[in-house]
Amino acid sequence: MPTLAPGPKGLPFIGCLPELKKDVLGLMMRSFAGYGDIVRFKMGPMTIHLVSHPDDIKRVLKNRNAFDKQTRTSKVIRQVTGESVLVNNGDAWERHRRLLQPAFAPLELKRFFTVISEATDELITELETIADRKKPVDIASYMMRITYRIIEKSLFSTDANTDMGALEQAIAVVLADTYRRIEQPFSIPHWLPTPRNRAYHRAMTLLNERVYLLISEHYAQTGDDLLHRLCRDTSFTDTEMRNEVISLLIAGHETTANALTWFWHLLAQHPDAEEAILSELPNGPITAQDLSSLEATTRTVNEVMRLYPPIWAIVRRVVGEQELGGYDLAAGSSLVISPYVVHRHPEFWTAPDKFDPQRQQPDHHYACIPYGGGPRLCIGHNFARMEADIIVAKLMQRFRFKPLPDHPVEAHASIVLRPRQGLKVIVESR
Ligand code: HEM
Repeated sequence: MPTLAPGPKGLPFIGCLPELKKDVLGLMMRSFAGYGDIVRFKMGPMTIHLVSHPDDIKRVLKNRNAFDKQTRTSKVIRQVTGESVLVNNGDAWERHRRLLQPAFAPLELKRFFTVISEATDELITELETIADRKKPVDIASYMMRITYRIIEKSLFSTDANTDMGALEQAIAVVLADTYRRIEQPFSIPHWLPTPRNRAYHRAMTLLNERVYLLISEHYAQTGDDLLHRLCRDTSFTDTEMRNEVISLLIAGHETTANALTWFWHLLAQHPDAEEAILSELPNGPITAQDLSSLEATTRTVNEVMRLYPPIWAIVRRVVGEQELGGYDLAAGSSLVISPYVVHRHPEFWTAPDKFDPQRQQPDHHYACIPYGGGPRLCIGHNFARMEADIIVAKLMQRFRFKPLPDHPVEAHASIVLRPRQGLKVIVESR
């Protein structure tokens, strides 16, 4: 007899599906508090385990073959990216990861410093035109724009004169479709000619045309951006290159954008944290050397990502039957590791709900996993850390973002954790 983990019963046939749709973060937190480190959920025909102890998380994330990414979410994402490091498994994943990894090595990051810095300067110029007008703006959409510009410039070295708006637009359409399909298991298939599906197909066609064109141009010319590096140093076929480029465009902006949006939200409520950052910022331009001394900035960004991890769920398939934390997990079932839950685990975090940039990091490496862990640790984690620090430091030198007091800020757990209605602020000059 298998030893089954405890969990909420839910409704007959559909299990916890309605609760999951209504408030997935609340469902996870309540279940973790009520049933412990491994919780078993029934969702219609599916069994899903929520795994929240860092020891168990370590075992899952380190063992990529026993717990792979052959999941429903990956299947939906694959429709856009094809086989790529984001979604593939086994030897194929290993080869792609090995080929991509050198481009993200810490030493390579220096070249991205200028890209990030320049893109932030462009945003500063734009914000100067609206500052002190007392007109609310959605800072979330500005964060999306800047992080998209940064990944695009890093990949293709496009400048303000290159018309890349169509590509950005196409990615937004394709991502919105992907999110809808992940959130709604029973979506209208792509082959039905609905207006939404037609828009999706138009966006995919444009995305493919543009990305293949950029790849052929990069093969033909010399240069030093990320795509030039991949064209020069890897054995990717054109299709593989297309898949990886689209994956990096997708994975490399919305996560950081939302981390930054939550940052502005929390900073506005914690003037002491704001003060600590302001007091360490240099008066003049921020250089790459300055970054390592921005301790309060980094600590605050980390604390924001503890409370609001942009990737709030890491999903795996249990390949063959497994025992985990004393319970049996069936072959083919799914498991979820939620950084949102683990980052509030009371055995590893004191006063977990308190925002405290000064807090001690727990000894257990897997108690703090905003970028995942093990062999599939986020490939862009060093890039994202540097990007967030530069954007925060440069924007804080110039502006204060004052949230509108009556604007509701509610966490919405789509693929990425974001404020459901953005973050409306008034931009003030410092
Ligand atoms: C704050 C920003 C970011 C966060 C919170 C984040 C989070 C994550 C997490 C949790 C994973 C692991 C998913 C899993 O194990 O299933 C991951 C994987 C990945 N991330 Fe990020 N990420 C961020 C930024 C970036 C950036 C800037 C890039 C690219 C430039 C990137 C590219 C990737 C890729 C390609 C993977 C798949 C790695 C693999 O499976 O081998 N991410 N990210």
